[in-house]
Amino acid sequence: MRVRSRFKPNFRLFAAAMVTVVGLASEAAWAQAVVASAASPGDVLSVEVQIDGMGKLGYDVKRRGKEIIGLSRLGFNLVNAPKLDGGFSVKAQKVSEHDDTWEQPWGERRYVRNHYRELRVDLEQKNRAGRAMTVVFRIYDDGVGFRYEFPAQPQLRDTAILDELTEFAVAQPATAWWIPAGELPGLEEMVQKAPLKEIGTANTPLTLRLEDGTHVALHEAALVDYASMWVRKVEGQKLRAQLAPSSTGPAVVKHGAFTTPWRTLRIADDAAGLYMSDLELNLNEPNKLGDVSWVHPSKFVGVWWSMHLQHTSWNAGPKHGANTENVKKYIDFAAQNGFRGVLVEGWNQGWESDWGHGGADFSFTKPYPDFDLPVLAAYAKEKNVRLIGHHETGANLPAYEKQMTAAYKLYAKLGVDSVKSGYVHEAGSMQFKGADGKVHYGHYDSQEGVRHFVKAVTEAARYKIAVDTHEPVKDTGLRRTYPNWVSREGARGVEYNAWGNPVNPVDHEAKLVFTRMLSGPMDYTPGIVSLVGADGKVFNSTQAKQLANFVVIYSPIVMAADLPENYAKYPAAFKFIRDVPTDWADTRVVNGAVGEYVSIARKDRKSENWYVGAVTDGQARTLPLSLSFLDAGKQYVAEIYRDGDAADYRNEHRFDLVTEMRTVTAKDVLQLKLAPGGGQAIRFVPQ
Ligand code: NOJ
Repeated sequence: MRVRSRFKPNFRLFAAAMVTVVGLASEAAWAQAVVASAASPGDVLSVEVQIDGMGKLGYDVKRRGKEIIGLSRLGFNLVNAPKLDGGFSVKAQKVSEHDDTWEQPWGERRYVRNHYRELRVDLEQKNRAGRAMTVVFRIYDDGVGFRYEFPAQPQLRDTAILDELTEFAVAQPATAWWIPAGELPGLEEMVQKAPLKEIGTANTPLTLRLEDGTHVALHEAALVDYASMWVRKVEGQKLRAQLAPSSTGPAVVKHGAFTTPWRTLRIADDAAGLYMSDLELNLNEPNKLGDVSWVHPSKFVGVWWSMHLQHTSWNAGPKHGANTENVKKYIDFAAQNGFRGVLVEGWNQGWESDWGHGGADFSFTKPYPDFDLPVLAAYAKEKNVRLIGHHETGANLPAYEKQMTAAYKLYAKLGVDSVKSGYVHEAGSMQFKGADGKVHYGHYDSQEGVRHFVKAVTEAARYKIAVDTHEPVKDTGLRRTYPNWVSREGARGVEYNAWGNPVNPVDHEAKLVFTRMLSGPMDYTPGIVSLVGADGKVFNSTQAKQLANFVVIYSPIVMAADLPENYAKYPAAFKFIRDVPTDWADTRVVNGAVGEYVSIARKDRKSENWYVGAVTDGQARTLPLSLSFLDAGKQYVAEIYRDGDAADYRNEHRFDLVTEMRTVTAKDVLQLKLAPGGGQAIRFVPQ
């Protein structure tokens, strides 16, 4: 028997398969006993499961023997049954190892290795008629995921969850990069940096840098039919899961057997290591859609930025952007420049009402009279271009769900094979239809919100339509299971630079990469080479940074968002935008520090070309870029798009872009000189 007190944290680590079951009858309530443990395949991370004298469950996580997550509680408070917290004993346990490599239909890299040790601990509550619960840990060298599994059992037929008691007691003083949860802008809050002990209730991914430099990102994987997990500070550096509330009852209601989403911890030496992990993707179920060759990673342009600049309008009238003649021009522009798609917003009836507060008038099948949908769809196809559909719902789910299938069918008939959906609302005011048929309001990331987003994507898949969700529920790696869920917004996009109040800060992208982007692709709408929003609002960016963003902010579908006339003004910059692909065979984060800078190298899926994007915050920097990722023995021409020597995001030199060519090999190290608020983009073409 191995017993320890809470006050003696330095307990010896257990090797992977060494597990011990202990009885606790005679121990004091505060005594902790390690009842199971396992380590990752390379012995980097280890997990111990503990039970105290009251039968309460806990776990801890160590990295190379050093505590990262100290003893943290596991369990639930239920609404309709006694709590699942305490009185637990171990019925059985098992450690197994898994190692395979799977292929992504599209992504940051083609092949993903899924190598972990799994620790399953079957528990029972003897004092509660033997209620059963299993806690499963998957321990990777670069992170840990765990979830709760409930077998079908008569003692727990219907489970109504009040609180999930899962804790994350961060063991060292840490700095956090976080956004608040449950607040009005949803996921579009500004990323804040603060000592972990000072944060409030946070959304995930929550990125932490511990005192010894270790980086940790707390998130979840496979969020399906369950409430989103927020994390609330309990005391000091201890966080507890807080389930996004339902507006009509318990946060989560389940019937019969069920599993929770995975609670995940990426753990790495540095920020770069966090981004390189595939933890959440690996924890999701494999592709359920089969052949997805109908999903096309590609770039597009859109009748979009002109609306945000208020040059054109979504609604009908003299400024209506989605008119047949205007859209034809965009289709021609796309065809001439090799863009596959043209997004058209404001094509459908219903934009006249106060749609941001209700969306009740939207039709998803009726175009405005000056927008000839069949003619434009055919015109586009003829030119090897596709219209991209748009469904702004105003977060009115009853109205949308009523029309959704007909809307997808219409698009499918016309060859429109992707749709951008939108759920503009203030958090807490998404509309749902209850079992009683009445409309109620609630959180977009509540269990019923989560259900809707998955329903919209799976229904679209039936019509071979890819979905790019704006104002979405956060990404938890479901693109593995549903590869037609190609992208999402879910953070402050470039549109904030049109609106102001305020525009995005200069360190925005260097923060996004190591926070929001850990969850999955983002439809960021990069490439505004004109660097100006509505009413002369100026971007906190040089022009070179706008190019770098195509590599730095990953999405398989990317809008070259500026107006065609602005691209005509800046042909050098536009060349990179035309050339850069959106689907990658491989990705390497060469260097990075959260909120300061990052350089990412990516290899094209369809050629031997490599691309690099580097961005900095407000500080000028020179970043060494080792080209060791290139094929040894080959020569490459590097087409470099860099900040000019006087470039600075704070003055008119923000437009100073220098293009130059160099011949390089894998042995070279380039020095990337980035201006304040600047960036650099490079295309490497083998000779
Ligand atoms: C907000 C979205 O982020 C933006 O891209 C879209 O143009 C508007 N909503 C209208 O749907």
